[in-house]
Amino acid sequence: MLILLATLLRLAVLSEAKLRTCKARNLPAIDVFGLEVLDVSARAQHGYPEASRDVPVDAEPIDFCNVTITYTHPGQNDTINAYIWLPFDHWNGKLLGQGGGAWASGDEASLAASVALGYAGTTSDSGHSIFGDVQDVAVNAEKWALLSPGNMNWALVQDFAARALDDLPKIAKQIVKGFYGEAPSYSYWNGCSTGGRQGLMSAQRFPGNYDGILAVAPAISWASLAAVAFWPQVVMQREKYWPPACELEAIRQAAVKSCDEIDGVKDGIIAAPGLCLFNANTIVGSTFDCEGAKRNITAAAARIANAIWGGPVRTMNGQREWYGITHGTSFGGSGPYGVFDGLATTTCADGNDNCHGNPFPVSATWIQYFIEKDPDYDVTQMSEDDFFRALHRSRNEYGSIMDTSDPDLSEFKALGGKIVHWHGLADQLISPNGSSSYYSRVLALDPEARDFYRYFEAPGVKHCAGGIGAFPGNALEALVNWVENGAVPERLEAASIPAGEGEKIRERVLCPWPLVAAFKGGDVDAAGSYECEEVFGQARGLHTEL
Ligand SMILES: *[C@@H]1O[C@H](CO)[C@@H](O)[C@H](O)[C@H]1NC(C)=O
Ligand SMILES: *[C@@H]1O[C@H](CO)[C@@H](O)[C@H](O)[C@H]1NC(C)=O
Ligand SMILES: *[C@@H]1O[C@H](CO)[C@@H](O)[C@H](O)[C@H]1NC(C)=O
Ligand SMILES: *[C@@H]1O[C@H](CO)[C@@H](O)[C@H](O)[C@H]1NC(C)=O
Repeated sequence: MLILLATLLRLAVLSEAKLRTCKARNLPAIDVFGLEVLDVSARAQHGYPEASRDVPVDAEPIDFCNVTITYTHPGQNDTINAYIWLPFDHWNGKLLGQGGGAWASGDEASLAASVALGYAGTTSDSGHSIFGDVQDVAVNAEKWALLSPGNMNWALVQDFAARALDDLPKIAKQIVKGFYGEAPSYSYWNGCSTGGRQGLMSAQRFPGNYDGILAVAPAISWASLAAVAFWPQVVMQREKYWPPACELEAIRQAAVKSCDEIDGVKDGIIAAPGLCLFNANTIVGSTFDCEGAKRNITAAAARIANAIWGGPVRTMNGQREWYGITHGTSFGGSGPYGVFDGLATTTCADGNDNCHGNPFPVSATWIQYFIEKDPDYDVTQMSEDDFFRALHRSRNEYGSIMDTSDPDLSEFKALGGKIVHWHGLADQLISPNGSSSYYSRVLALDPEARDFYRYFEAPGVKHCAGGIGAFPGNALEALVNWVENGAVPERLEAASIPAGEGEKIRERVLCPWPLVAAFKGGDVDAAGSYECEEVFGQARGLHTEL
C-alpha cells in the first residue's frame, strides 16, 4: 500500500515537473546548423481525442505537451513549423516521426498515434500549410510552388523535398532531451506515399537521423511518378474516349476472374500480377451491367485498359518509360474523391455518357506548376508527345531534388539502421514495381542488404491501405523488434480490414520479396496455410510443364 502511494506520488511529482517544463521559456534553445528559430510554442494538452488509421492504437484520450518550433533558413524567406508532441506520462523513451501524403509533409493530427503508442511524436509542415482537407492535400502546391508564373519557389521545393526532413529529427531530439532530461533511446520514421519517400530520403541522405524506417508505398522516383500518373488521362485523350467508371471496372473484374487463381487461391485477388497475361481485347463486345443498364465493352476502352496496364510506352519507338498499374487494380472512382481511387477517373455529364477525364490532382498540379510553371496550362489537352516531353523535363529538372532512388544505403547500414518497406500490389496511384525495382538495385549493389532492409508486397492492398487484401498492421512493431531485439522480420503478419459487419477476415503472411506466400492447403483465410516460397504452387506447376 505504502509502495503504491509512493509510486503514485512520484508520478504526480513527475507530471508536475513536466507540466512546468511544458512552457516555451523552459525548453532548450534549438541549435541546428543553418536554421534560425522564429517562435517556440508549448502548451499542455489534456484528454486529446486520438485518431489515426495508420497505426492501430487504443482510443484512450492522451495528455501531452504540444510543442511547435517555427523557424526559417535565413535568406531563404521560408517559415517552417516543426511539431513535437511529448507524452507527460508513459513515455517509452523513443521518438517517432510521422510522414505526410501527397503535398503534405506531415499532418499534426497524425502525432496522436505516436503519443498513444508512448512515443514522443514529430512531424513537419516543411514550410507550407495543409488545411486537413483531402482535396487541399492533393492540389496544395498551387499555393506555394510558384513565386510568380514561370518562377519556382525553390526554397520551399527544397524544404518539401529534403531539407525540412533533415531539420525535423535534429530539432525534435533536442526538445526531447530538454523535456525529459534524456535523448531518445531510439528514433523511428513511419510514412506512406510522400511519407514513404521521406523515409527513403532520410536513409539515403540523412542516415544518422533514424534507427528504423518504415516506408510504405513510397513515391520513390517522384520526378517520374508525378508525371507518369497522368498517363491514363493521356491514353484516353489519345483515343478521344473517356469510359464511364463502370466500363473500366467491368474490364478490371474480367482480369481478376482470369488471373485470380494463378496463385492457387480463389479470393478475388491477383497475387501474381506478373503471371497475369489478360488482354482486354479478348472481351470487346461482351455485355456488362452498368448501374442497371446493359452495355458492351468497347474496343477503345479495351485499348485504354491495356495501355494503362502496360505503362507509358512511346508509340514512336516502343520504349516503356515506366511501369503500369497491375491487373486487378482500380482504374478510377466516381464522385468528388473518385480521383483518389484511380488514375483513369472520369466524370460523366449525362448518367454514364458524355464523360470527360478527371485527372489525379497531384499529377495535374505537378505538370502545371512544376514542369510548365504556368497555372493556366491546360493539362487536359496534352498529346502523347506533350506528355513524354513533360516526363523528360520533369526527370531532368527534379530528379536530383525529389527522387529517392539512390541504391547506396551503405552509410545508413553502417550506422545500424533498419528499413521495413512494403507496397500494396493493388496500388492505384503508385505502381509497386517502382518499389521492387528500387529494392533489386539495392540488392545488386549490396547482396547482403537483406541484413538491414526488407521489402514486402501486399496482394490486394490499395495505396497505403484499403482494398480486399491483407494489411500488415504490425509492420512498425516488426521494425522496432528488429532494431531493438535483432528479430529479423522473416514475414509480416497481415489481415484484411472487413468493409462490412460479419465479413470474414482474411489472414495472410507477407513474404520478403521476391518470395511469395504460397498456399499449402487448409483454410485459405488462415495465415498458417501459407509459406514463403520462391514461386506459387501452381506457378511452379506451369514452369515444369513448359
Ligand atoms: C499545438 O500548438 C500549435 C501552435 O500553438 C497549435 O496551432 C495547434 O492547434 C496545437 N495543437 C493542438 C492539438 O492543440
Ligand atoms: C518573403 O515571403 C513573404 C510571404 O511569405 C513575402 O510577402 C515577402 O515579399 C518575401 N520577402 C522576400 C524578400 O522575398
Ligand atoms: C511488377 O511487379 C509484380 C509484383 O511483384 C511482378 O509480378 C511483375 O512481374 C512486375 N512487372 C514488371 C514489368 O516488372
Ligand atoms: C451489344 O452486343 C450485342 C451482341 O453482340 C448486340 O446485339 C447489342 O446491340 C450490343 N449493344 C449495344 C448497346 O451496343
